[in-house]
Amino acid sequence: MKILLFGKGGQVGWELQRSLAPLGELVTLDHDSQHLCGDFSNLSGIAQTIRAVAPDIIVNAAAHTAVDKAESEPELCRILNALAPGVLALEAKRSGAWLVHYSTDYVFDGSGDQPWLETDATGPLSVYGTTKLEGEEAIRATGCQHLIFRTSWVYAARGANFAKTMLKLAQERDSLKVINDQIGAPTGADLLADVTAHAIRSALQHPDLGGLYHLVAGGQTSWHGYASFVIDFARHAGRNIKVAPAAIQPVPTSAFPTPAARPNNSRLDTRKLQDSFGLQLPHWQGGVTRMLTEILEKQS
Ligand SMILES: NC(=O)c1ccc[n+]([C@@H]2O[C@H](COP(=O)([O-])OP(=O)(O)OC[C@H]3O[C@@H](n4cnc5c(N)ncnc54)[C@H](OP(=O)(O)O)[C@@H]3O)[C@@H](O)[C@H]2O)c1
Repeated sequence: MKILLFGKGGQVGWELQRSLAPLGELVTLDHDSQHLCGDFSNLSGIAQTIRAVAPDIIVNAAAHTAVDKAESEPELCRILNALAPGVLALEAKRSGAWLVHYSTDYVFDGSGDQPWLETDATGPLSVYGTTKLEGEEAIRATGCQHLIFRTSWVYAARGANFAKTMLKLAQERDSLKVINDQIGAPTGADLLADVTAHAIRSALQHPDLGGLYHLVAGGQTSWHGYASFVIDFARHAGRNIKVAPAAIQPVPTSAFPTPAARPNNSRLDTRKLQDSFGLQLPHWQGGVTRMLTEILEKQS
């Protein structure tokens, strides 16, 4: 079996390189790959790549993920998040390959306080959310065999992330302000990659499993709850934390104006995925603890 992975260097792409490797022959590309085109701004180039590789499975971890920057470059964002996935889907349909793709909680308007179901009405608030939704629709429109996973608040030990920023600030400052009216579940790129590998194996045996799934870690928190958890962990690990627990101040989203609006309610209901694939999604604290352990070990 041959698997073609786009976006190999991103948070999720990096972990997919690990989790997909045992499934078959893996060809991995990023936007600057030399021998084959992996640049999503070159739509005919990525179609040619798929024809040249002739994969059984196309996995797309590439995207325009700079949510605020997207507001000032909507055309580029649309090409990467909507048109390119549409090309992948057309090629998948033509060749009979499966397409695996990731989408986001930003397709929703963030209202209410209930976890969103796959069947709920969408209503993106930003260019990023709008183009990601368009990408989902482009895939479905081709009728190719596909798995689309909507996820949220993705982190990885590699590269920059929210937890690392909070740790740095907590070591430098006496007080911190962190948003407490956006609710979601921090989700590890490693969990996404592992579930993707399981889901691919199941879908190959049971093609009726194809479709749209919500995929996030269990439980829920706010950015304030997430930051407090991270800082508390570092304090207990003996790190030199300057900010006292009571000085981590909860503030509303309006305290930090950004070009792109974010949904307040990013809760995603994952029962469909857990029931369909016979999987259990662990609570977010477990994965974050693992990531923090790795980060702090590297720092010491
Ligand atoms: N991060 C989140 O919190 C979050 C939340 C919900 C959903 N998602 C979705 O999850 C998926 C994976 O996200 P992630 O967190 O792994 O994102 P990421 O770390 O930002 O990785 C994005 C990848 O896309 C690549 N890319 C950027 N421009 C490209 C282009 N023109 N052509 C080809 N590749 C290009 C990047 O390559 P370079 O680094 O070399 O530019 C990188 O490898 C995406 O579909 C995203 O929308 C993410």
